Amino acid sequence: MSETSPAEHDEPVLERLHRQDTRLDHYIDRYAARAHGMTASAIRALFAVANRPEVVSLAGGMPNITDLPLDVVGSVLNELVFTDGRRAMQYGSGQGEPAIREAICELMRLENITAHPDDVMVSVGSQQGLDLLTRIFCNPGDVVICEAPSYVGALGVFRSYQCEVVHVAMDEQGLNPSALADALRALRRAGRTVKLLYTIPNYHNPAGVTQSLDRRLELLQLAERADLLVVEDNPYGLLGFDGEPIPALRSLNEHQVIYLGSFSKTFAPGFRVGWVLAPHAVREKLVLAQEAATLCPPVFSQFAVAAYLANHDWRGQIKVFREMYRERRDAMISGLTSHMPTGTTWTYPEGGFFVWLTLPPGIDSHAMLPRAVTARVAYVPGTAFYADGFGSRHMRLSYCFPTPERIIEGTRRLGEVLEYEARMLEIFGTAVESENDRRALGPREAPGPDQP
Ligand SMILES: Cc1ncc(COP(=O)(O)O)c(C=O)c1O
Repeated sequence: MSETSPAEHDEPVLERLHRQDTRLDHYIDRYAARAHGMTASAIRALFAVANRPEVVSLAGGMPNITDLPLDVVGSVLNELVFTDGRRAMQYGSGQGEPAIREAICELMRLENITAHPDDVMVSVGSQQGLDLLTRIFCNPGDVVICEAPSYVGALGVFRSYQCEVVHVAMDEQGLNPSALADALRALRRAGRTVKLLYTIPNYHNPAGVTQSLDRRLELLQLAERADLLVVEDNPYGLLGFDGEPIPALRSLNEHQVIYLGSFSKTFAPGFRVGWVLAPHAVREKLVLAQEAATLCPPVFSQFAVAAYLANHDWRGQIKVFREMYRERRDAMISGLTSHMPTGTTWTYPEGGFFVWLTLPPGIDSHAMLPRAVTARVAYVPGTAFYADGFGSRHMRLSYCFPTPERIIEGTRRLGEVLEYEARMLEIFGTAVESENDRRALGPREAPGPDQP
């Protein structure tokens, strides 16, 4: 028996569907142009599977806070509530609380940076600092230069402000200044406005490399000559495993460099406390943008981080984190050395969380991901770290979270998947598009917030 009314029988199917509005998103026609680039990734669903305990996830870039002494944090928070709770739970300054800005300046001294608390603005993680910087500097269509590859969360910010990202080559020594000079010349010839250079000099996410001092000096000379504003994003700077840290770009030039810092990796990401250190005029503009966005960064979090720094041996805690990550880096490198097939190469991180893997020609890390997850190992395909669809021969492996034994097991499983892909390639030839085809296809979407 038919459930439809006689009138519906007469109506053409397409018109009826349209009337019923079968679109998944009823509001699709109303979004601002800047929202169109904000799309959920098809690989998010796979990452939900990747979070199952039987899968070794080398995908997630979450800080490992297992070693954080919860009793210490608990008593710091307890005391804060009872001694200063009313101030801590009130609105505060748009620039951030004076005590935490002073502590931030002390912390930055570890990287040779001399700064006044007046030039610091507290942000909701360094991620918000980057968002506000882009908001105050970039019009739609402006160019932001980024390393190739670059941090997926930064690409998302630039996309959301409709900037055009131009990637510049990097290698084992970080961003290559002569490639940057070439890009700047080409952009100038094309009449493009370059607003920012976004760079991660230390323990790069996702590439795992650190820029050498010579290159830093060369880069800054070039930035001065071209009057290029450099945004130095440095969340991993204090998590180096070997030797002395290389001076931060900001410590070598205070006019051309805006510095982004964070407590997410040296303390805990859940407090969402980061900061921007900027020349005075920029800092003033940033505070106005911060007030428009949030009124003020969360006061309770700032008090909590300041109290933790004042009452706990945070330098000792950073050493504990470093040793824990170093052990995992060693496990990752030893696993890769034992299990990767010929033709695979990888970077050797001297700090931070990530290794960047380059696959033998013809193997596509994006296409391979479902098979890897079936084999109970996950990674982030390289395409997530490019704005232009490049990166299919690469993947990011994180060693920050799993135990060393699980990391080695993960590399063993990955090695098996790669051997299988190589055999298929031998038998059937390459079914994947070349990097150039992939570029033409445009960007892949961001993988999701838990793979930062
Ligand atoms: C390079 C880089 N910048 C910024 C961030 C954001 O950090 P935060 O937690 O301070 O917002 C991350 C997080 O993983 C990162 O890897």
